[in-house]
This record gives sequence, structure tokens and C-alpha cells, in this order.
Amino acid sequence: MILRDAVRVLVSNWDGAHTVPSRRLYPHQWSWDSAFIAIGNARWSPRRARSELLSLFGAQWADGRVPHIVFNPRVPAGSYFPDQGFWQAKAPSGAETSGIVQPPVHALAAWKTHLAEPDTAFLRRIYPRLVAQQEFLRRDRRSPEGLISVVHPWESGMDNSPAWDRPLRAVQAGGASGFTRRDLDSVSADERPTDRDYAQYIELATAYRDSGYTDPGAFEVEDPLFNAAYGLAESTLAKIANTLGLDAEPHEREAEAITLAMVEHLFDGGLFQARDVRTGELTDTASAAGLTPLILPGLPADVAEVLIATALDRFQIKDLPLPSYAPDTPEFDPARYWRGPSWINVSWIVWQGLKDRRPDLAATLADSVLSAVVKSGFREYFDPYTLRGHGCRDFSWSAALVLDMVA
Ligand code: DGY
Repeated sequence: MILRDAVRVLVSNWDGAHTVPSRRLYPHQWSWDSAFIAIGNARWSPRRARSELLSLFGAQWADGRVPHIVFNPRVPAGSYFPDQGFWQAKAPSGAETSGIVQPPVHALAAWKTHLAEPDTAFLRRIYPRLVAQQEFLRRDRRSPEGLISVVHPWESGMDNSPAWDRPLRAVQAGGASGFTRRDLDSVSADERPTDRDYAQYIELATAYRDSGYTDPGAFEVEDPLFNAAYGLAESTLAKIANTLGLDAEPHEREAEAITLAMVEHLFDGGLFQARDVRTGELTDTASAAGLTPLILPGLPADVAEVLIATALDRFQIKDLPLPSYAPDTPEFDPARYWRGPSWINVSWIVWQGLKDRRPDLAATLADSVLSAVVKSGFREYFDPYTLRGHGCRDFSWSAALVLDMVA
């Protein structure tokens, strides 16, 4: 029943070559959404999974960046904000896109798609694009410590996480006004970022755009989820390279180096923290992003054990679908976007990281996610305690990742 409903959501959000995250709230193609969607589609239609990834990488820029939104020209401009008129960016393919990126979870999606239905022609096509995506991050975003930074909260994927409250204090939002949010047309304001958050998002995106998408501007942080995704991409590229008879060693070395750099610079207080590149300070917060390095195959066992203890103690994963922010903090809000609700993609990443290390806990976490969906449907996010659904309905990655978890 659940599986049939999950496929129904993915079918109704399919747009010919890719899937929209949600018909009303997110009517274009989003980068990391497409990776998660491909992972679910691989379970019942590997053809759609390949198409999802190839259409996204079709809008890759010449510098290797994969934009976080690829606009659908058939959807009226203005139905999403900020739209193509704001970003003013075009890929070599002619597609209109945004100019920022999202966590690079795509190599994993490509590999899982290949495992579902082996297709070396697909791997051969996508591999150089996945490599170029990583090269862009190394070239443009790497600090002397070897970590990758994001230059906008939207790039982290966890837009209004309390982890960004302090770094955002440096952002004056005086200039950004006169825009109309469209997200509040379909979701209640107390479940979304605030107007002040939006003013800062627009201020930062405008400055980055006006620098020709080169100058980081006032917000520059090293986020553990983004870096974990980058490291996992390298280990996955090693597997893909091996399959294609190419040299896997540079990928293995890079995966090892980023894992070590993360442990050395970001691991503190029972979990991984983000680091503000401007001040050199760790954010000292309690985002579930800090648990996601569990997905790194080379994470030292003693570090993994500490993360698991934190997941049990502060995030209560024996009883709750993983909250996006620790409930024992004053910032925790069970309904407001990334400030506490449970999101299926972050639960899925941690579930992946637990499968080999603690299969018992992985199974418990999968059960909690399923309970949320049984109670409330494929909502965008859930109150971790009541399992009440929030954000949009029929959200594609919620359906896709449940398909993967129960398969
Ligand atoms: C949104 O619109 O809320 C997205 O998270 C940003 O891309």
C-alpha cells in the first residue's frame, strides 16, 4: 500500500524527463532533490532514475557547478520566488538556472541507479560530469584546511537551520526589499523561514549574482553535511572508476583526506559542527547535519561511536524519526522547516550510515520514518513527537526514500 502510494506520488510529480519536488511549492527541478528522487526511482524505474540525473547534469555549467535549480520554461515565471529573472543565469545547454549549488549526493544516486540495473553506458556518460562537479568545489570552495564551504544557507540544503543564526549576523539585509514570497501561498508562515531570513537570503544571493557567481560574500561556512556528501561522492566515484576500468586511487585518496580534515577541524562536543570561515569559529550548535558523517565509509570507529551515542541521547533516535535539530535546545521548533522537524532525507542519510554499524538502530529509525508517513502521508517534514505533517504534501523525496528504505 505504502509502496504503491509512493510510486503514485513520483508518477504524479514526473515532468517528462525529471521530477518536481512538489507541484505547487517547488515546480522546477532541484539538484539534491533529483539525486534522492533517482535513488527511489531506481527501485521501480531505473530508466526514470537515469533520466532524472542526466537531465539535471544537462544543465551543468562550464565550470562544473551543478545549479541548485533548473527552471522549467513551461512553468510560468513568477510562480516560484526567486525565479529565473532574479538569478539571470544560463547553462551552456541554454537552460535557465540558479547560480548556487547543493550537497553533492549525486554520485551515490548514479551508483545506486547502476546497481539497480547495470548500465555502463550510463555510468560512462555521467562519470566525467560527476568528476567536474567535485572539481568545481575543490577549485572554488576549498579552504587551506581542505574543507569545502557553502556561500549561502540554500546551498547547505538546511536553509534556516539554527546553525546559520550566528554566521548570518554578519549579513545586513537592509537592501533587500520589494520582493514577494510565493512559498507562503501554499504553506503556513509558521512552518517556513521568516521574512527576515528571506531578506538575508536575497541579500546574499544578489551579492553573489552581482559578482558573476564568483565572490563568496558575507556568508561562508564549512558544513558537515555538505562535506560528508563531498567525501562520500569521492568514495563512490572510486567504485564507478573501478567499474569503468579507470584509476580509482585519486578518489580514494581524496575521500580519505576530507574525512581526516573533517575529524580534525569539525568534530567537537559529540558531533560535527559547521565552521564559520570568516571567524574560524565552530558554530557550537546541534544540527542533525552533525550526525551525517556516519555515511562516510572511512569514518574512524571511535568517532562513529560518539556520533551514535549523541544520536541516541540528544536526538532520541530510538523513539523519534530523527529531528533536524536537537530537541534539548532553546532553538528547537518542531514545525518550522529546518529548525527541528524530521526530514526523511536526513533520516535516510543517517540510516545509511547506521546500516553496517548498528543494523538494530537503522531498523528502528526506518520504522519511525514509516510511522510518520503512515500517519501523515508523504509530507515535506514532520513534527518528531506528534508525527503531524508539515510543509507541502506529496513531496517527492519523502516518497522516493521511503521506497528505498522498505525495498
Ligand atoms: C526553498 O525555496 O525553500 C528552497 O529551500 C530553496 O531552494
